[in-house]
Amino acid sequence: MTSRTLGIYGTGGCGRSVMPVARTQFPDDRLVFVDDAPNAKQCNGAEVLSFDDFAKIDGGLITIAISQPAIRKILAYKCTAAGLGFYDILANDLIVMDDASWKSGAIISPRSTIGSNVTIGRHFHCNLHSYVEHDCVIGDFVTFAPGVCCNGSVTIGDGAYIGAAASIRQGIWIGQGAVVGMGAVVVKDVPAGAIVAGNPARSLTS
Ligand SMILES: CC(C)(COP(=O)(O)OP(=O)(O)OC[C@H]1O[C@@H](n2cnc3c(N)ncnc32)[C@H](O)[C@@H]1OP(=O)(O)O)[C@@H](O)C(=O)NCCC(=O)NCCS
Repeated sequence: MTSRTLGIYGTGGCGRSVMPVARTQFPDDRLVFVDDAPNAKQCNGAEVLSFDDFAKIDGGLITIAISQPAIRKILAYKCTAAGLGFYDILANDLIVMDDASWKSGAIISPRSTIGSNVTIGRHFHCNLHSYVEHDCVIGDFVTFAPGVCCNGSVTIGDGAYIGAAASIRQGIWIGQGAVVGMGAVVVKDVPAGAIVAGNPARSLTS
């Protein structure tokens, strides 16, 4: 197979956590970091290319390793406008149950599980030790920080951010762009754009 050039957009914590996972998944490809304004040619042993240089590579594929959903969305438009395609980075110990699916640009870190009949949108980030249980419907540009417990039949709108170790009761609806704080226990629906935290989770904004 011909070696491809695969970009990881971002040299921050997210990108540097994802690079080793990608290296395991794609041992025969050239893996590079992509940065808007690189301040070094290398990062953790991998090349760092400017976005403009990466965009000139014929057939270059990229994944956006930026945890903030709104920024990821902007960068996705920028990548598409530059003619880049997206690929998924998937941990080799990922468990995927029956009839689960996600769209392109996903990053799913080690020790994660996607349950049966789950549907997930574009550019999903599922960080270390997180699970999405059966029948959940997850929108585009959703981020799970490490250790999220998303129980069955939960619906999460586009661009929501779920903090580390948050636990979401089955059947809950979380609106577009909502933020769930780390350690939250979510037992009621969360309106779009709300920030909730605590056990039980309550709004920090109202
Ligand atoms: C919920 C969160 C988004 C709030 O951030 P913020 O808007 O900057 O809020 P602040 O830090 O100013 O805190 C506001 C209040 O909420 C409390 N608070 C903040 N986060 C909280 C949390 N997760 N659980 C309970 N209370 C929390 C603060 O103690 C503070 O209370 P006070 O007003 O009585 O002092 C943030 O704290 C959080 O949990 N982010 C997710 C972090 C994460 O998972 N990171 C993973 C990185 S890989």
